[in-house]
Amino acid sequence: MNSYIEENKTRFLEELFDWLRIPSISAKSEHKADMIKAAEYAREALMQAGADQAEVCQTPGHPIVYGEKLVDPTLPTVLVYGHYDVQPADPLELWHTPPFEPQVRDGKIYARGACDDKGQVYMHIKALETMVKSDSLSCNIKFMIEGEEEVGSDNLAIFVKDNKEKLKADIILISDTSIIDNDNPSITTGLRGIAYVEVEVSGPNKDLHSGVYGGAVDNPANVLCEMVARLKDKDGKITIPGFYDKVVVLSQQERSELAKRPFSLDEYKKELGLQAVHGEKDYSTIERVGIRPSLDVNGMWSGYIGEGAKTVLPDKAFAKISMRLVPNQDSDEIAELFTRYFHSLAPATVKVSVKKHHGGQPVVTNINSTAFRAASAAFEEAWGKPAIPTREGGSIPIVALFRQELGLDSVLMGFGLDSDAIHSPNEHYGVFNFVKGIETITLFHKYYGKGKRS
Ligand code: BES
Ligand code: MN
Ligand code: MN
Repeated sequence: MNSYIEENKTRFLEELFDWLRIPSISAKSEHKADMIKAAEYAREALMQAGADQAEVCQTPGHPIVYGEKLVDPTLPTVLVYGHYDVQPADPLELWHTPPFEPQVRDGKIYARGACDDKGQVYMHIKALETMVKSDSLSCNIKFMIEGEEEVGSDNLAIFVKDNKEKLKADIILISDTSIIDNDNPSITTGLRGIAYVEVEVSGPNKDLHSGVYGGAVDNPANVLCEMVARLKDKDGKITIPGFYDKVVVLSQQERSELAKRPFSLDEYKKELGLQAVHGEKDYSTIERVGIRPSLDVNGMWSGYIGEGAKTVLPDKAFAKISMRLVPNQDSDEIAELFTRYFHSLAPATVKVSVKKHHGGQPVVTNINSTAFRAASAAFEEAWGKPAIPTREGGSIPIVALFRQELGLDSVLMGFGLDSDAIHSPNEHYGVFNFVKGIETITLFHKYYGKGKRS
């Protein structure tokens, strides 16, 4: 272990805690000032770590932090991407300690954003400091830390298109994913895309007495349930016509490669409190999240949900539905197919409308590159064993756009664990992962700087 990291880790953690104390919730407008504060904090941190320059770039939404340390134009340039925005912390009452008062318990940092993604971004800032202090930078480094990842990265997409020269690099490095576990390090080689829609089913022109009208007027809540139920069949297949048309089918060999990663279904069920798993017939749990698309209701509301019982036949019912996509499904096209099919499911008794939210394309990263080899070598040295390539089910929509707009591949070198409860109450991040991550990142730069470009 690099002695500088070891000697300074307490301070590194304290600094991270100051950042975590800023509730940078991008989805809520009441946190607009906190977003600016969190961006400012990242800019300062980059400067203190030894960046040549760092700035807070305004956007019509939340600002983007850009910084760089350019040591030698003949060396390769790594563009580090991450996000300082976090998900809302609700439901607050389920947190054992307040989400924006970070605390270490059992070797884990508890706070919203501890793992997703402030804790992981901060590793890169401290890796920069570590390399600057020992004068061992073997790559130029650029940082782009955004504040709208959790809400679709719309303004980052514009920023990227408008700043191609500034963002010129050889590879993008991202820590915003997970490893299998601390005994089985892994590198993420694929992420799912996403299509997100919100549906509204409306019936009578107002809420009605459920006794006076029940049985004679169709109930939008009942109808919505039926329509949602028809989106999947009994084999767990999504029924939207054309949904699977472009899905890349993996060869038997690719599937058996995937199956080699360690995974215990019993532990998975235990960890999540499940009696049984669910999913598309003939696919394993790993495949169901890694290489197959999915469809889920994320939220649903209608009628009376307050205390006690109110007899009411609601006038409207709503649901937010996400579809996770795999290569080569297209997010806009899938949202369109959904919209058409959902309308076709509606009985004559109701009106239906579908609103499209943000989307993102799926990605598979290049594993035959200097950068991937550098990441593998870094893991092997830091963790004492080779990292296993894995596909993950989450989405980072901007990764596909980096490829499209900048022509750049990404290395997804995240250090979280699936059990870190990101987006959930009691999100946490292992101190071990934080410290090991910093070391692995410095080694990535070492190996990438030495490698031959390809
Ligand atoms: N860091 C996650 C994505 C992730 C988590 C990838 C775990 C792999 C493993 C990211 O912050 C995220 O939550 N993305 C959203 C994207 C959405 C808001 C467009 C997601 O996946 O829901
Ligand atoms: Mn994230
Ligand atoms: Mn997230």
